[in-house]
Amino acid sequence: MPHYHLSVLPDEVNEWMAAGPGKFIIDGTLGGGGHSGAFLATGARVLGIDRDPEALAHARQRLAQYGARFSTWEGNFADFEETPEVQGGEQADGLLLDLGVSSRQLDAAERGFSFMREGPLDMRMGPSSPHTAAEIVNTWSETELSKLLFEFGEEPKARRIAAAIIERRAKRPFDTTTDLAQCIERAIGRQGKTHPATRAFQAIRMAVNEELESLSKALEASTRVLKPGGRLLIITFHSLEDRMVKRFLRYRSTAWLDEPGWPDPRPNPDYQFRLLVRKAVAPTTQEISLNPRARSAKLRVAELLAPAS
Ligand SMILES: C[S@@+](CC[C@H](N)C(=O)[O-])C[C@H]1O[C@@H](n2cnc3c(N)ncnc32)[C@H](O)[C@@H]1O
Repeated sequence: MPHYHLSVLPDEVNEWMAAGPGKFIIDGTLGGGGHSGAFLATGARVLGIDRDPEALAHARQRLAQYGARFSTWEGNFADFEETPEVQGGEQADGLLLDLGVSSRQLDAAERGFSFMREGPLDMRMGPSSPHTAAEIVNTWSETELSKLLFEFGEEPKARRIAAAIIERRAKRPFDTTTDLAQCIERAIGRQGKTHPATRAFQAIRMAVNEELESLSKALEASTRVLKPGGRLLIITFHSLEDRMVKRFLRYRSTAWLDEPGWPDPRPNPDYQFRLLVRKAVAPTTQEISLNPRARSAKLRVAELLAPAS
């Protein structure tokens, strides 16, 4: 049986999370439970969150040996303040977000994430995701589709693909992944090694699951859930996500703001973090050769400061 998911940057995540006995870690993207398993092995308590009930069931079974030190919650990590632990006043020593989909989700044809496997045009990570890919592809206007493909997919041929989708769906709505992949391939042709539908599928998946909105909300909420000294670790695979994390952390770790028109620098009212790594941590070539999915991973790490007295 192929593995469920191979965790990316496992050693780097363990080193920077510095989990241990008595610590409480929130893993917002439990997935196959690889990172959580390593935190639990140090003696820490872990709350694993995922919006995918299948991932939660798998991880619960895999990590059952840890008994009450491991708990799970089904939902969007952006809503982690609704978990019983946080509602009960607990604060975390660490929060990990390892964004995107797991290998298992990509490989399961029936989930509709892959243009390589015929399946329903779904792409929802779980029931809390608001729309299916079919709804987007069959109902959004040409302008909306083109904007989505250009912005989220960074697809230079976004307009041509959007026009082809509109023309094809006027005859028959799309209902399978391969149906959409073939339409995109006919519209823009095949060049190089990457499948021509790669960027479009990524863009649609990000819209289906409101991935950037969830990240933005979770970043904001992280300052309320971490203890002073608690660590925020975020692994991104997409330039828009990485830019959002980089800007957020850069601004929140700047003590003094200065602008050309100001007579003097002013204290930043949102100064809350200390960056633990200046540049994003990237996987080694050895990791990439073992796990090609890791190639675009970037890990950023920061520590919450104690509130100014
Ligand atoms: C890359 S995998 C995580 C793999 C995990 N770190 C491991 O070591 O096995 C991402 C997981 O996060 C979940 N996920 C992504 N975005 C989410 C969100 N906004 N809320 C909750 N779960 C999310 C996906 O369903 C998927 O199972």
